[in-house]
Amino acid sequence: MKVAIGNDHAAVELKKDVVEYLENKGYEVIDMGTDSTGADSYTEYGLAVGEAVASSKVDCGVLICGTGVGISISANKVPGIRAAVCSEPVTAALVKRHNNANIIAFGARIVGTETAHAILDAYFGAEYEGGRHDERIADIKAIEAKYLHF
Ligand code: RB5
Repeated sequence: MKVAIGNDHAAVELKKDVVEYLENKGYEVIDMGTDSTGADSYTEYGLAVGEAVASSKVDCGVLICGTGVGISISANKVPGIRAAVCSEPVTAALVKRHNNANIIAFGARIVGTETAHAILDAYFGAEYEGGRHDERIADIKAIEAKYLHF
């Protein structure tokens, strides 16, 4: 499985840890984030990973900024992206099972490496359940379609 990862300056160390963690588990990881701790904008990394996922260049994405919020909001502006911020593993599994989230996000200022690993294990270990959730995702796509021309 191919995974794109993106991060801003607030998440360089956690990103490095996560790349190693996922590679050790056999995932092919494409690092689209920064290795610089100089202040920059999370938007470009959210956009890059969002586009890689939406265009199917990768199977899914991982985004990390200080809180996970700014970078996931940015990715969610790309049509087709469902990026979910999670601070614990129960939600991380549910966003895959129910929302078919194609990007998992978390905050380097919020979670430590142990929790980050638990979040990743939960997300990658879960499967989308389909069924009634397909209708909700179709509803989300309809909202997206309504505003695509703006
Ligand atoms: C950067 O200081 C911080 O604002 C950013 O990493 C993120 O937390 C924004 O949502």
